[in-house]
Amino acid sequence: MNKNIIIKNVSQLVTCSGFKAKCGKDMSDLQIINDGAVVIEQGIIRAVGKTGETISDFDESRFSVIDARGKAVLPGFVDSHTHFVFGGYRAEEFSWRLRGDSYMQILERGGGILNTVLATRESKKDELIEAGKKRLDSMLSFGVTTVEGKSGYGLDHDTELKQLEVMLDLDNEHPIDIVRTFLGAHAVTKDYKGREDTYIDFLIGRVMPEVAERKLAEFCDVFCEENVFSVEQARRLLSRAKEMGFKLKIHADEIVQLGGAELAAELDAVSADHLLQASDKGIHDMAEKGIVATLLPGTAFSLREPYARGRYMIDNNCAVALATDLNPGSCFSESIPLIFALATLYMNITTEETITALTINAAAALNREDAIGSIDVGKKGDVAILEFPSYEYIPYHIGVSVVEKVVKDGTLVFDKEKNG
Ligand code: NIG
Ligand code: FE
Repeated sequence: MNKNIIIKNVSQLVTCSGFKAKCGKDMSDLQIINDGAVVIEQGIIRAVGKTGETISDFDESRFSVIDARGKAVLPGFVDSHTHFVFGGYRAEEFSWRLRGDSYMQILERGGGILNTVLATRESKKDELIEAGKKRLDSMLSFGVTTVEGKSGYGLDHDTELKQLEVMLDLDNEHPIDIVRTFLGAHAVTKDYKGREDTYIDFLIGRVMPEVAERKLAEFCDVFCEENVFSVEQARRLLSRAKEMGFKLKIHADEIVQLGGAELAAELDAVSADHLLQASDKGIHDMAEKGIVATLLPGTAFSLREPYARGRYMIDNNCAVALATDLNPGSCFSESIPLIFALATLYMNITTEETITALTINAAAALNREDAIGSIDVGKKGDVAILEFPSYEYIPYHIGVSVVEKVVKDGTLVFDKEKNG
């Protein structure tokens, strides 16, 4: 495959240039080049600038060339929080929720995450790979080039490892890069109900050392929530995880304000995610420590909960990322257009800030701000080419993807005309 591509005559090249998360007002700065070009050689961006001066140094015959006149080009999107590897579906529970049951009521009576745990335990590795591949194909069509995926539907040694191995295989097989997170502390099965500390001991003693040793996950995450894992239990698990070399994430303050945001700051997590109920203090602690606030508006929408206070977070100098949270329960959607719609129309986050939140800040939420998330020399050649001349068409075409082509590591991997 040819990993050399020149994309030239780009009407609007939205570079999102930068090598670290952007906070506050900087989130509005997209670093745009009109009539721009990007040169990608062996999968890596070698030159970025005005078309004329940028491509003159290169022999075009060695490259595939895309003429992007009339198009906007952006960095590939980074979906930094998903649970995309799972068995079974929970359409019935969605109907129950429409009739008034709450997400936590369903979990407490043994459904919810625990329902998916049973189906994932029963699924063969090949079946999980097959289903995961289809979901990744759909994400790619939205311009996503890097995805984070979590375990957490096994809650036993073998199935947790199986989920991580599936993601490792998919990372090798599929163009999208996959960042793996260990989320063994996602729920409590009935054998451990009331003995959550024993379950944490099991994860720390029996599962995490193997995950670390086999490098099956880079991050460790926990669902810190009332009736799931307390702040104290989350602290114990994550502190040990850190000692084992994991970087940290937390499902924090999603349904009840427990102090998950504060805990993320205390432990120097890379990100705290959800944050629907995060306190002012938690938000300020995170801003001070440079912890990325990953907001998941698809989940708030699907659960009919109030959105996280993204506007307040940005105005108070937090680096905000946005992600889909694709999972079979609280948000069965990998739709990037949906995230744009919710962020811009309902969270009072501007289009420019939303783009930053899905590119360089999402890269920072995965500790990859030096390698992806912007169109800068030295970064991976991951870009999305729109069918329209400006990024403003992304939220304007409500709920519909305007991505025409996707280039991953310098290779054209999605083309709407061919892939439909
Ligand atoms: O991020 N909150 C916990 N975990 C997921 C949902 C998982 C599920 O319902 O299957 C979330 O929303
Ligand atoms: Fe999640």
